[in-house]
Amino acid sequence: MRLLITNIRQLCQVEDASEKKDQVAGAEMGVLPCIENAWLLAERGIIHSFGEMSALTEMQTDETIDATGRLVLPAWCDSHTHLVFAGPRDGEFVDRIKGLSYEEIARRGGGILNSARRLNAMDEGELYDQSLERLYQVNAQGTGAIEIKSGYGLCLEGEMKMLRVIRRLKEQKGMAIKASFLAAHAYPLEYRQNKEGYIRLIIEEMLPKIAGEGLADYMDVFCEEGFFGIPETERLLEAGWKYGLKPKIHANQLHYSGGVQVGVKHHAISVDHLECVGNDEIESLKTGKTMPTLLPGAAFFLGMHYQPARKIIDAGLPVCLATDYNPGSCPSGNVPLLLSIACTQLKMTPEEAINAITLNGAAAMELAHERGTIKQGKKANLIITKKIPSLAYIPYDYGNCPIERMI
Ligand code: NIG
Ligand code: FE
Repeated sequence: MRLLITNIRQLCQVEDASEKKDQVAGAEMGVLPCIENAWLLAERGIIHSFGEMSALTEMQTDETIDATGRLVLPAWCDSHTHLVFAGPRDGEFVDRIKGLSYEEIARRGGGILNSARRLNAMDEGELYDQSLERLYQVNAQGTGAIEIKSGYGLCLEGEMKMLRVIRRLKEQKGMAIKASFLAAHAYPLEYRQNKEGYIRLIIEEMLPKIAGEGLADYMDVFCEEGFFGIPETERLLEAGWKYGLKPKIHANQLHYSGGVQVGVKHHAISVDHLECVGNDEIESLKTGKTMPTLLPGAAFFLGMHYQPARKIIDAGLPVCLATDYNPGSCPSGNVPLLLSIACTQLKMTPEEAINAITLNGAAAMELAHERGTIKQGKKANLIITKKIPSLAYIPYDYGNCPIERMI
């Protein structure tokens, strides 16, 4: 199958075959290499070649798309989601409007524990159907690669159920999916007085089983005051590494908890959330390869202060953006809306925001070799926009979907 796309107003995020960019950092995040008035040829799902229309020669194809007035970009890489869940938490949303905090709701046995009760009561087939529908929805909004976490089971059977659902979702053609094991998301009520017992359950029973069945790619921990502290996080990450699960952790959402430093120390692929980032966190990030991943959709929905994206980029570091799609702190997997928030609230430029959700998103899932830029040999997983005037129009036109078609 040879697919030719012609008359592309702007082919965005192109990379030369001779380059080998595995991420983009600092001032370079402000640069998004583009070709005006371009064509692109894909063969059997792989980018074969591209260039300026003036240099296009006659060729045999199976399908030609005329993209006049439209932009073509690599599909979004959303590296942090909890897309498998058993239903909304709109009641807690109203509780928060009326004054209860996210942490208070959690202390009272709501929040993540509420989702866990519902998930454990739900049949696996129904959980799969709901999740697949969400996957289709985010795909229509431009997402081509996605990480999905467990963490609403909080017992061996529930966590396995979630990870089996993710494994079935992986069978869907056309999307890349990574699975993270997040049993350390909250202490189940029955372990509130026996936290050590729950840590041991995760390390001694869940991890061997889940790793043994190859159900997870990464190890996640909600490292936060009131959830999992630094010593527990360290034990969990060390145990994960023993089974080949690299860490990708929740850090510094609610407090300056030391989560960033612990992630860097344990060679995490990424540390995610980062509402609370100061100089110590920045200095720590500079010493390693861990990707700082910002989830401003959660800060928006919880009414929290935003992540200091400028401070991180201006320190020469990379920034990745992800949605955090989940029923509690961000019930939306809509990347175009995330980009609007990143530009208006975090003061990222459109180029920085798109670098953060394409190449850096791919890097945060170890997929930069095959996704995240338009490069010969990478997957032809592409967004064709509607007729729009510019790249900046994507975050500018907030609340609307700029996408016409996904390849
Ligand atoms: O990333 N912070 C921890 N976990 C999720 C929220 C989960 C929930 O509230 O259901 C997050 O925000
Ligand atoms: Fe999360």
